Amino acid sequence: MPKVIFHKHGQVFEDEVKPETNLVVRAGIKQFPYPNLRYECGMGKCSKCACKVLAGAEHLPPPNWKEKKQLGERIDQGFRLACQIWLTHDIELCQEEITA
Ligand code: FES
Repeated sequence: MPKVIFHKHGQVFEDEVKPETNLVVRAGIKQFPYPNLRYECGMGKCSKCACKVLAGAEHLPPPNWKEKKQLGERIDQGFRLACQIWLTHDIELCQEEITA
């Protein structure tokens, strides 16, 4: 079971999720990382769900075109769109307030 460590506002939240889990889908049904995960569209269009990957990025597939379009150069800083990734391995993410 993938372990998710989620940093937000200086706090750390941690839980295990099923393989192939999407965190925005989970938050939508009020499961961890609800209520701490910021998101909106769930479709790669708003970038509200952007998170910086602190560990485990090597297990993720390359960013898709929606992530590239929304995140631009933030991709190079390790950002991903949580709504566009399905987790198969442990991951550590940070979501701070953004000025997008
Ligand atoms: S929730 Fe809108 S881009 Fe992920």
